[in-house]
Amino acid sequence: MSEQSSFYPELMKDIKPATGRLGVLLPGLGAVATTLIAGVHLINKGLAQPYGSLTQMQRMRLGKRTNPRFPFIKEVVPLADLKDLVFGGWDIFPENAYQTACQAGVVPREMLAQVKNPLESIRPWPAVFEQAYVRKLVGTHLKAGPSKKHLADMLIEDIEAFRRTEGLDRAVMIWCGSTEVFLEPAPVHETIEAFEAGLKANAPEISPSMIYAYAAITAGVPFANGSPNLAVDIPALMEYTRMNRVPIAGKDFKTGQTLLKTVVAPGLKARMLGLTGWFSTNILGNRDGEVLEDQGSFRTKEVSKASVLSAILQPDLYPDLYGQLFHKIRIEYYPPRGDAKEGWDNIDIFGWLGQPMQIKINFLCRDSILAAPVALDLALFLDLAQRAGLSGIQEWLSFYFKAPIARPDLKPEHDLFIQHLKLTNTLRILVGEEVLDHSGLDYYESEDAYRTGMGGA
Ligand SMILES: NC(=O)c1ccc[n+]([C@@H]2O[C@H](COP(=O)([O-])OP(=O)(O)OC[C@H]3O[C@@H](n4cnc5c(N)ncnc54)[C@H](O)[C@@H]3O)[C@@H](O)[C@H]2O)c1
Repeated sequence: MSEQSSFYPELMKDIKPATGRLGVLLPGLGAVATTLIAGVHLINKGLAQPYGSLTQMQRMRLGKRTNPRFPFIKEVVPLADLKDLVFGGWDIFPENAYQTACQAGVVPREMLAQVKNPLESIRPWPAVFEQAYVRKLVGTHLKAGPSKKHLADMLIEDIEAFRRTEGLDRAVMIWCGSTEVFLEPAPVHETIEAFEAGLKANAPEISPSMIYAYAAITAGVPFANGSPNLAVDIPALMEYTRMNRVPIAGKDFKTGQTLLKTVVAPGLKARMLGLTGWFSTNILGNRDGEVLEDQGSFRTKEVSKASVLSAILQPDLYPDLYGQLFHKIRIEYYPPRGDAKEGWDNIDIFGWLGQPMQIKINFLCRDSILAAPVALDLALFLDLAQRAGLSGIQEWLSFYFKAPIARPDLKPEHDLFIQHLKLTNTLRILVGEEVLDHSGLDYYESEDAYRTGMGGA
């Protein structure tokens, strides 16, 4: 029997080594960003472990099940070392990263004290911001310029100055800024010419997160979007990423409730259990919660969270099982809890003979504790993508997002397990290893496979 082949030699990449320093640019030095920075410094000092991070802790299988290897992901592909990361960022408030981390109250004070110096040295650069896009915040530390194009140029200058002063080899940008009001795609978002004309004419449809994305792409810096804002997810900037050969990923970090939704929903569907209702509510007391109290920002978040279930359950293909699903999402700002979010999910399901059942999930999570390793992995994987010569949408990073960006003619994948397989298989392809499909029938059906101990997936 000829051996089943799942190699893609034509897609294998010659990946440049991860030598030198990697700048991590963070628009929005708030709870997530400072938890990330504090965490990396604590880990580098040997005072904490990188729990939650695939790039730091996960192993992946290479080779046949009869002769498997389980190296760490960071041994399979060359990733930047945490000691080579240099952080910088922008915020609409002038507090340094230590002060903000203390206010955010995510990392315990005694841990923060151990990395006070490096955190204090990170002072945000003045931000590109307008209150019209985040109504709950009044910024005090802002850039001023006659047009959005001038503001974009100032961001590019910040990036170049950061590169020079820190002696950076490469840089990536991860948007950790607030959720902006809901914006519909408009003609100014259609082409890069229209977008650049809109920057000069101060088009109201161009939000600050789009200006940061434009600046990053202009500077050749990969961009990931941790919020549900459109940011790079408009045709004009997609075209621009292809022109400048910059990898991008987004949108909206998949961390708490939606992470669990994309674990549970595929399981119910795999067993053909029906759903009549899924009510998700959260209480959240950090600044993100306050921003989301505004209906404009909440709408952006709601759209991002809502797409998940219908994409996984495919009610068009399974109308009897999922055609009547009532999906409701609430986020309540409740200051006493700070960053410690509590999410409740009530799931009404039905099984054999239409008999109803219920599932309750009560997730007492820590928002930024879940988001920081996601931001770290995105920084390292986007840098890898750039060194591997990949550009445009990095769909294999869908794993990290609530509303994954996909090519317009492709439906995004939301099932966490498919996303994970997509991620690890992409890494296998990049280094010329065999892709795994886990079918395994060839281990049993082929006499040759029995005799030689070989098999397929
Ligand atoms: N924490 C999570 O689990 C999670 C999950 C998914 C998405 N997110 C998203 O990540 C983002 C950050 O979350 P967070 O909890 O750190 O919020 P946060 O409010 O603590 O931090 C956001 C920071 O962005 C700043 N900011 C707002 N607009 C800006 C601009 N134009 N330029 C520069 N800075 C700006 C704010 O001043 C604030 O300091 C939010 O959009 C949030 O919705 C967070």
